[in-house]
Amino acid sequence: MSHISIDAHRQRGKISKYIYGQFSEHLGRSIYGGLWVEPNSNIPNINGLRTDAITALKAIKVPVLRWPGGCFADTYHWADGIGPADKRKKIVNTSWGSVVENNHFGTHEYFELLNQLGADAYVNGNLGSGTVQEMSEWVEYMTFNGTSPMADLRTANGHKDPWHVKFFGVGNESWGGGGNMRPEYYADLYRQYQTFLTSYDSDSPLYKIASGPNVDDYHWMDVLMKNAAPYMDGISLHHYALASAWEDKRPALAFPEAEWFSLIKSAQKMDELITKHSTIMDKYDPEKRVGLIVDEWGSWLRAEQGTNPAFLYQQNTIRDAMIAAITLHIFQKHVDRVQMANIAQMVNVLQSMLLTDGSKIVKTPTYYIFKMFLKHQDAIAMDTLDDLSETTSASISKNKDGYFVSLCNYGLTATDTITVDMDSLISTVSGEMLRGTKMDQHNDFDHPDEVSPESFTAITHDSHQLTAKIPPMSVVTLQIDTV
Ligand code: AHR
Repeated sequence: MSHISIDAHRQRGKISKYIYGQFSEHLGRSIYGGLWVEPNSNIPNINGLRTDAITALKAIKVPVLRWPGGCFADTYHWADGIGPADKRKKIVNTSWGSVVENNHFGTHEYFELLNQLGADAYVNGNLGSGTVQEMSEWVEYMTFNGTSPMADLRTANGHKDPWHVKFFGVGNESWGGGGNMRPEYYADLYRQYQTFLTSYDSDSPLYKIASGPNVDDYHWMDVLMKNAAPYMDGISLHHYALASAWEDKRPALAFPEAEWFSLIKSAQKMDELITKHSTIMDKYDPEKRVGLIVDEWGSWLRAEQGTNPAFLYQQNTIRDAMIAAITLHIFQKHVDRVQMANIAQMVNVLQSMLLTDGSKIVKTPTYYIFKMFLKHQDAIAMDTLDDLSETTSASISKNKDGYFVSLCNYGLTATDTITVDMDSLISTVSGEMLRGTKMDQHNDFDHPDEVSPESFTAITHDSHQLTAKIPPMSVVTLQIDTV
């Protein structure tokens, strides 16, 4: 039994749509094959971008896409990825499997992707192995409107108008693969690099993001905030849900039942991490100007058997839908600090929205959570009074018609009966559910609709209270229209 009480006056603040952001890296088949197939491919595409993926992703209104990494960002030299495709340098992707990177997907192709998706840009610059000049010139290339060496080069490459870059990351995981730096050293480098990132575009000044801590490295957060807070708009945080030790990851399919809850617990750690990191940030930024940007999150499981382990390809089951719902609920609890989040990664890598195999494509249970939660984007998060069962997670937002409620019962066996009380008058309630009837339930290329949303009708209500019966392993959304 769970109980939720809504008081119209208890509002947390706006849920930034950017919390529903995505991430695509030059890693495995995330970009190549998953999104980019070359303009002359037999797979239907527009300007090289596969039409089926774009259509599916448009339906979840991707607000922002982080690119080109991840680890890859700190090896990426943007000038390799501009100009005629057949003349671009072929390099080794040393971060992910030492495969050939032909640079056919570069800056112009990224903005074409954003344009097709209707998403904003989050470009991650190379601090680990790139120069201040290189980073500075990339911003000039992308955003300067006028005559300058980089703007002229962009025009020569076929794009006269500048693009808008909303978010810019200064390095990635600088404590590890991005340079193995100490926080004091990175803080100084951050201050230096960001000085030369000019906001040429007055309509869209750069929102600069510093490379933040790994999981619970509170020392990193403290040093960065102490030394560089005034120079940043956001600081990143990475946390992946793991069922077991890093070196001994669990398989995505035939996932051990005994570890269902350890994986969920690992995802729930996000709440503690945000709370503790925010407390440190409050010391230096009590007005909460600097955003906590959770630009990598999701489940990290063993790569599927028979695939290149460096490509991080994993199946996605109803378990991942639970992880997504629980984590998004946590972000919505912390709207005062979390200004953006980017699930890792959009296609074919880690906890994806879509999986592809040649011309085949399938939507994952995680995709459907992003679709079902659309009404939370830019709505007002409510601070409800909750008494939830041990295996229930909930979040409620206010919209122009009433309230949007998302509920997740991540228990394996018991249905939870949830009552929701409110101080306004209920007129109508409609519901949707994503449900698993077995732990490993997932969609594959031969069975694409094993897990997909259905209408949810196990609801009764009177004027101020509703009751819903939420089956185990399910996520339910309710739109409660009020008068
Ligand atoms: O998302 C995969 C990798 O995980 C990213 O490249 C890196 O930043 C993190 O360690």
